[in-house]
Amino acid sequence: MTSVATLQAPDPTGARRPVARRYLMCRPEHFEVTYAINPWMDTATPVDRAKALAQWDALRAAYEAHGHRVEVIDGVPGLPDMVFAANGGLAIGDRALSARFANPERADEGPAYHRWLEGQFAKAAAASETNEGEGDFAVSGDRILAGTGFRTAVSAHREVEEFFGMPVVSLELVDPRFYHLDTALMVLDDTIVYYPPAFSAESARLLAELYPDAILATEDDANVLGLNGVCDGYHVFLSNRVTDLAEALAARGYEPVGIDLSELLKAGGSVKCCTLELHQVRRGSAPAAG
Ligand code: ARG
Repeated sequence: MTSVATLQAPDPTGARRPVARRYLMCRPEHFEVTYAINPWMDTATPVDRAKALAQWDALRAAYEAHGHRVEVIDGVPGLPDMVFAANGGLAIGDRALSARFANPERADEGPAYHRWLEGQFAKAAAASETNEGEGDFAVSGDRILAGTGFRTAVSAHREVEEFFGMPVVSLELVDPRFYHLDTALMVLDDTIVYYPPAFSAESARLLAELYPDAILATEDDANVLGLNGVCDGYHVFLSNRVTDLAEALAARGYEPVGIDLSELLKAGGSVKCCTLELHQVRRGSAPAAG
C-alpha cells in the first residue's frame, strides 16, 4: 500500500469543513449523442454543444470558486462521452488505474485517460478487467464501494482491491437507468446518500447495515440524476433540479450547490460524471498500512 496522509482531526464544534480537492475534467468540445448505451441517450434528441460548453464551464468555475484545483484533459474527436471524466479511472495517493470500458463506443477513452494519468502518477497502470473508473468506484473512508451489473465487472473489484490495497465492497445495480454506481449513490463526508431501488435486495440490505445513518434519496431526485454529485466535506455540488435531497443535505450540515447540466443529462450524466477526483489522501481514521 502507498503511504498517504490521514485527515485532520474533526472540528470539535462538529461543523463540517470543506477540504481542497483536485479534480480532473474534460471540456465537452466533442460532445454529442451519436449512439445510445444507456436509457437516457436518444440519438434523435438534438444536443446544443455551445450550451453544454457553457454549463461545463460553470461547473468548473464553481469548483474553483470553492477552492478546488481543476486539471483538464484534452478531449478527442470522435469520443463524445469523454466529457465524463469520472469514467476514466480511479486515482488514490500516488496510484492510478485507468479504465477499460464495457462498450466499444467508448473503448478508446481508456488509453486516452491512461496517457494522462501516467504523466501524473508514479504508479499508473492500465486495468486488465472491465471497469469504468469512478463511475462504479466510490472511495468512502477506508473502503471502496463498487458497482456492478451493467458496466464494471466483479473481477475488476478484485483488481482494484489488490491494486490500491483497500477493501472493496461489491454492490449490484439492477435498474438500467442507474447503470453506474455514481448515478445511485454519493459519498458524503461521514455517510452516503443512495437510492435503494437501484440496488439488488441483498446490496440494499448491505448498504443499510454499513451506513445506518445514510440519507435515502427519493425517486424524483434519483430521476434527475441528483445522486450524481460531488462532496468536498461541506459543499455538495449537484443537479439544481433536486428538491428533497437539497433539504436533507442542509439538515445534516452540508451546503448544496445547484448546478445546471441539462445538456449533459441527455447523455445520462451530471456533475459527478464530469469529475474524476484525484484523491490526495486516504480519508479514513486509521493510518494507511505499509
Ligand atoms: N453516456 C455515458 C455512458 O453511458 C455517460 C457516462 C456517465 N458517467 C458516469 N460516471 N455515470 O457511458
